[in-house]
Parts: sequence; structure tokens; C-alpha cells
Amino acid sequence: MAIFFDAQNKIFYLEGKNTTYAFGIHACGCLQHLYYGKKVGRDDLHYIAADGPSAFTLRSPEDKKTSYQHIWAEAPAYGRGDFREPMYAIRDEKGDRLSELVYVRHEILSEKPMPAGLPALREGETLVVELADKVHPFTVRLYYTVYDDLDAIARRVEYINNGESAMFLDRAFSFSVDLPRSDFDVITPYGAWAKEFQLDRTPIRHGVTEIGSKYGATSATTNPFLILAADGADEHRGEVYGFNLIFSGSFAMKAELSMMGTVRVLGGAPDFDFTWKLEKGECFPSPEVVMVYSDEGLNGMSHQFHDTYRRHLINPHYVHAKRPVLINSWEGAYFNFDNERLMRMIDGVKGTGVDMFVLDDGWFGARNGDKAGLGDWVVNEEKLKGGLKTVIDYTHAAGMKFGLWFEPEMVNPDSDLYRAHPDYAIHCPGHDPMLGRNQLVLDLTRADVRDYIVEAVSKVLRENEIDYVKWDFNRSVAENYSSHLPADRQMEFQYRFALGFFDLCERLVNGFPHIFFEGCSSGGARFDAGLMYYFPQIWTSDDTDAYMRTLIQYGASMIYPLSVHSCHVSACPNHQAKHTTPFATRADIAHLGATGYELDPAVISEEERAQIAEQVAAYHEMEDLVLEGDLYRLSSTANSNFFAEELVSKDKTKALLTAMRAIPIVNDEIRTVYPKGLDENMVYHIRELNIDLHGSTIMNAGLKLRFPNGDYASAVWHMEKV
Ligand code: DGJ
Repeated sequence: MAIFFDAQNKIFYLEGKNTTYAFGIHACGCLQHLYYGKKVGRDDLHYIAADGPSAFTLRSPEDKKTSYQHIWAEAPAYGRGDFREPMYAIRDEKGDRLSELVYVRHEILSEKPMPAGLPALREGETLVVELADKVHPFTVRLYYTVYDDLDAIARRVEYINNGESAMFLDRAFSFSVDLPRSDFDVITPYGAWAKEFQLDRTPIRHGVTEIGSKYGATSATTNPFLILAADGADEHRGEVYGFNLIFSGSFAMKAELSMMGTVRVLGGAPDFDFTWKLEKGECFPSPEVVMVYSDEGLNGMSHQFHDTYRRHLINPHYVHAKRPVLINSWEGAYFNFDNERLMRMIDGVKGTGVDMFVLDDGWFGARNGDKAGLGDWVVNEEKLKGGLKTVIDYTHAAGMKFGLWFEPEMVNPDSDLYRAHPDYAIHCPGHDPMLGRNQLVLDLTRADVRDYIVEAVSKVLRENEIDYVKWDFNRSVAENYSSHLPADRQMEFQYRFALGFFDLCERLVNGFPHIFFEGCSSGGARFDAGLMYYFPQIWTSDDTDAYMRTLIQYGASMIYPLSVHSCHVSACPNHQAKHTTPFATRADIAHLGATGYELDPAVISEEERAQIAEQVAAYHEMEDLVLEGDLYRLSSTANSNFFAEELVSKDKTKALLTAMRAIPIVNDEIRTVYPKGLDENMVYHIRELNIDLHGSTIMNAGLKLRFPNGDYASAVWHMEKV
């Protein structure tokens, strides 16, 4: 049992492996947060709750001791004197926006009810608390899912209109938690195309710190996670709280340090350009958030997210499956290929161990560049004589699987689809639509448009032997308007777009369960837990430069397990960064994820081809660590000349340390790293040093990093139980 209700003291205890989350029913009927942190006894925690109101705060007319400004709220509302950010905001038809929620009932369920139309964690004991507005016919249901072997709690909310007339939700977040302390740094992701997952860390300041996306996807400019690191916590020490939305659309996340020195963290659906009309009896389901507490620093927090997502988020059919080592045609050929060129590429990796060929953009319609063809999912027979079958058969004859690229949500104005159905594209009458990469976005809020997409993509998947699909999304959504929504529902567009995307995923991914789907969005612009529910692997960034990848993959690993990070070895000078790193380094860094190649193997040297074979073999030796192991981040290129990460198997019998030195510096400091997570008493053979050492020695005396000569040199150390 992970959930316990103390009826006498009216306290709910949600207990993870090492964590307690507790809240109670306040005398005024609202829910009051009491504690979130390291596991504590099931004591009457009301003693710790906030002090009563001070002179000038607003008090409840029924009970002069109640002031919402002082209550650590579990479901904070607007208009009754809290004055901090509310979790939700309602408005009735008269314009009344005040809300006050009181406890009605609760249920503890052994089986988790899944939210309709949204990705969420699977399984887990779930508490549902129902609250009712004191005045409006409005119900709020709070869902908490807890796993007694993990330190992760999933939360979500349902907002329900029980009245006769419509009401409006001007905000409908997924959660809010008040932490009664202020000694936090806030860590949030920022970035751009080819520079995803950079991390900001700043001491929290009074007022609101906020991240969010208005891009229609979670975007490369940020990512839906926010971390609070208490009292100087670092990678391996100190208390850390992490919050991650399971969502793939526009969103908002906030942390507010109040005048009382408490921090409220909240977030969910977009906060801007959002109003949802709730008709009589309708329910708005929020996305789910996953909250993790760790007293073992950021790395401890990451372990919890990684384990939770591997056990309860990623498709169980694929989560433990060995990933295909693939060669992708994009950077090797871009749009310039025909059958012969593709066959030369396939021949180029034959016998190296690469086990899948992925035909990227350019195989369909009039797609000879990025100006035409998107939306026409019919093979371009001028380029591929004999259709896809010729390439697929050739791939299979070479002993490889075959993968194909799609961008299902998009259309070029120069396409048969657009000529036949110009109204399928998002457009707002009176405004000429903006173009991004010469393309428009299809209106996924429309069921008929989604039906068209499902059928067009399904036809190709049905008629060809396809083992893998790369699902791309290369422009943001700006003109948030649908010709099929009434005026008072236009501000539902962003959320409806995300729901439309999830509907496509449900139908296409579940419709073809034998196909392995990889997500992509100009690199990592839709790399999130929402996508991970459907796609076990996501292209992390278009920047394949090994140095940039040490930063990008490091940031992504804060929350997301390495098996999801798609990482390719590409040609140099790197096509994005125009930067050269050694071939070996590119592979060592690309091995810290689901690896593959993105170059023209027909033009590489024999020496490099031999290296590919060695690299693939080396990857197979450690891929179980990528799929299942624990990651330890030991050194970052964000603040040093060195990158170092270690993977350790769950049974601690096997580990791998990967390191890179950015620039050789004469007379540089001796750099020792201290591996973690080994068994102190186990003796490990370190292959590269040819010595046997106890885990305790390796972890405490450390390993001195040594590299080959040159810039961006890398090295790996294999450790295995003797
Ligand atoms: C952007 C992706 O990130 C690339 O890998 C490639 O698939 C191109 N789109 C194709 O247009």
C-alpha cells in the first residue's frame, strides 16, 4: 500500500520508496499541503502547517482564522485572497471568476484510471480526491498515482462542469505544490534548434520564475521540466525536486517564491491564449505531471525519472528491446538520391553490423527539395524506379531492416494534397499564412484531417514491409485558429492540437504494433515524456557534433533515460557546427544512447568502414547498459574541459566510463574522476588498465583520465566483475 488515509487526523500520506507526500483536510474544508520530502512517520503533520493570518490578510467570512494567503494549498484557486498563482481559473457566464474548493470525498484505487486521450504513466496505486466549488456547480478531481518501489508521484486534474450553463476555464493546470522553504536554485532547460537541452541554474527570487512554449510543440527553446535544487544540491548530494509534464504541446511551468518564504510550483496546459469552454456535464482532463524527490542530488533525481519512465511510460513492448543500429540517409544524401545511390549506401555498410537502413525525407511526391511534396505520401517513381519495394528488397537482401521517414502533420502549398484540400492547412481568414521551411501545418483539431492523415500514412505502411518509422515535425504552429471551431472555442486550439496529435499517435502507433516509431522535430523540438509514451526513441538534436552532443545529451539525461536519446555518428566537418572531432569520439558519445550513423558510407575510407564494424561491435557489448543501466554524470563540458559519464548495470557487475577532453592543455591539471554506483566489495577488472580493483577503490581513489593526443579526444573504460 502506497497510499494511506488517516481518518482521525484527516491526512493523506502518499508513500514512495523513500518519500512521503502528505496533505490534509483543513478546518475550512480545503486541502492543505503538509509535507513533501524524505520518508517520515505517519504522524499528525498538522502541527507543521503554516501559521494563521497576520493583520492585513483577507480572512474567510465564516472562519476568521482562515486566510488562503497563509495556507499551503493543494489546489489553489483565484479570487479569495490567496494572491499567488492559482492552479486553475474559472469564469461563469455572468463573469464571476471567484472559486473556493472544499473536500467532498476520496477513493483509493489499486488500478490506475488513464486520462482520456492523453499519454500518462501506466499502472500504480491511485488516490482520487473530489473537491467541489462552494458556489459554482463545479467539481475538481485530483489524481495522485504512487509507486511504492519508486520515488515518483504522478498528478493530474479533471475539471468538471455540473451546472446547466456553460463555464470557461481560463487556466487548467495539472498540479500545484507549496513547499514551505525558499533555499532553492531553479534549474530550467533552454535552447534552440541544434542547441537543445542547455541548463540555466539561478537562485530563486521573489515573484514568478517561468518557462513555457507557445510553439504548438514543447519546442527546442525549453522543455517541460523544472527542477528545484535545495541548499546548494549538486549532481550527487542534496535535496532535489523535479517536475516533468507528460505532454507534447504548448505548456507553462512556474515557480513562485511568496512573501511568506514558500515556493509554489505549478504547471500544465498553456497559460497564454488558452480558454476552454466547459458545457454542461463536460470534463477537461489535464495532462499528467511526474514529481520526483531525491536526497541524492540531481543524479538521484534522474535515476528516479529514468526508472519510472522505463517501467511505466515507454511502450513495454519496446522498452527493453535492443535498438537497431541504423544508417540514416539524411546527411549522406539529403534529397539527392535515386535507387542506385541508396543501394551504394546500403552496400557501404553491408557486413559492418549496421542492421537497419532508414530512408529519410525525399522519397515521395515531388519532393526534390523542401519546397514541394509534403502531404503526398505516394512514392516518387522518378527517383525510386519500381517503387519502395526495390529499395526495401535490396535492404532485406543485405540482411538489414528498413525504415521510412514521414512528416504526417505537414503540407507544402506546392503539393497535390494542398491543391485538393487547401482548407486542411491551419489558416486564419484575412491573414496570409506564415511559412516555415516552405510548409504549413495541418489542422489536427479536425477529425476529418486526422482521418486523412491516418489513412494516407497507413496505406504506405500496409503496402510495404516497413520495420521502423521516423516521424518528423519541422515547423512550429503560430496561427492558432481553426475554421471548424466556433469563436468562443478558438482559444482551445493549442490544447486541441496536442490532443489531435495524440489521437494520430494512438491510431498509427497502435495500428502498426510491429513497427518501431522514432520521434523527431527538427532534432529535439518535441522531445518529451508525452512523445515517449508512444515512441520509445526520439532524435535528440540535428546537431551531431560530438562536443555539442556532450552538452545536449547531458541536459536531456536530467529527466529522460538514455535508451530514448537517438544519437548518430555523422561526417566531419560536422554539417551543422562545421566542426571536426575524431571519428572515435563521435562514436563514443553517440554510444550513450540509441546509436546509428548519418553519413554516406559509399564515400568513406576503408579504414573508417572497418572502424564502423568495430564501433558497432563495441556498442553491442554495452547496449544493455544504455537500455537498463544507471547513469552517473561525473563531469560536464558546460563548466569544464572534460565530459565524463558512467553507466552501471542494475546488478552492479558491469560498468562503462566514457570521457572526452575538449582541448589539450599543456601542463594541464591531473583530472581524476570518481566513478559511482559500484559494489564496494566487488572486484572489477578494468580492461583498458588491465588491473583488478575493488569497487571501493575505484570509487574513492578514482580513475585518472588519460586521452589520445588531439582535440576532442575520448576514451572508454570497461569494468566487469572478476
Ligand atoms: C529534420 C530532422 O531533424 C532531420 O533528421 C531530417 O529528418 C530532416 N528533418 C528531413 O527533412
